[in-house]
Amino acid sequence: MSQNSKRNRILIAGNWKMNPITREEAKRIAKSVKSVASKLDKTDVVMCPPFTYISSIVPSRSGVAGGNVYYGAQDTYTEIQGSFTGEVSAEILKELGCSYVIVGHSERRKMGETDTIVSAKASAVLRAGMKPIVCVGEEVRDSQGGYLDIVSAQVKSSLESITDRRLASKLVIAYEPIWAIGAKEAMAPASIQEMTIFIRKTLADIYGQEVAVVVPILYGGAVNGRNAQDIVVQGEVDGLLVGRESVNPPGFKELLKAVDLRK
Ligand code: PGA
Repeated sequence: MSQNSKRNRILIAGNWKMNPITREEAKRIAKSVKSVASKLDKTDVVMCPPFTYISSIVPSRSGVAGGNVYYGAQDTYTEIQGSFTGEVSAEILKELGCSYVIVGHSERRKMGETDTIVSAKASAVLRAGMKPIVCVGEEVRDSQGGYLDIVSAQVKSSLESITDRRLASKLVIAYEPIWAIGAKEAMAPASIQEMTIFIRKTLADIYGQEVAVVVPILYGGAVNGRNAQDIVVQGEVDGLLVGRESVNPPGFKELLKAVDLRK
């Protein structure tokens, strides 16, 4: 856990992306995650399936199953309701039992989502009473350290419309270097630790230290059962955003157990 953070639980968010392709398989994955998660002591788990599976895996309208399992979506829209064909609002997601919504994932940014849109979506999620997991991360690493400016600018403009500190304290930031997403190797824990400190400092510049210490900072990109514990402990992150391994029950089980067994 980050020394700067007041949190002592670790949050593991599974971004299922556009997987699996049947509802039965989605239910099977969720069942397996719930059964492992119920045995964890110090770890919270969020499952973010495609929209259409949410109601099939949420057990009740409370959005909380067994205390440490939560549900989330992978995207939302900036408005609450109305003529926006194909969109799903934060209010609708809340009603389905979601507590978290990923916003600004690099795969969505690649489809044209700007920091301004990400900020409006994050704000809509907060207003609906949920927590946005705001994704940031550089595309490449340059030897001059230009990636630091890119990440701080991205954090600032992706949060631009969130000025209320009380709401800001409900944010979650996911640092996902784009070059590590879907890659073989995750970023080295020491570099992750540097970025965690840097992002927390950026949050402190925007909202002050009090808010900065309570906002969980997650790492994402090629996390698996073998590297998860080192990333959490040495990288001093408050959690992980997991892609591929979150829809692979044996791998996700190993990952959750490794994180929960941290010292
Ligand atoms: P990955 O994806 O774990 O498959 O690298 C991470 C993400 O896109 O959030």
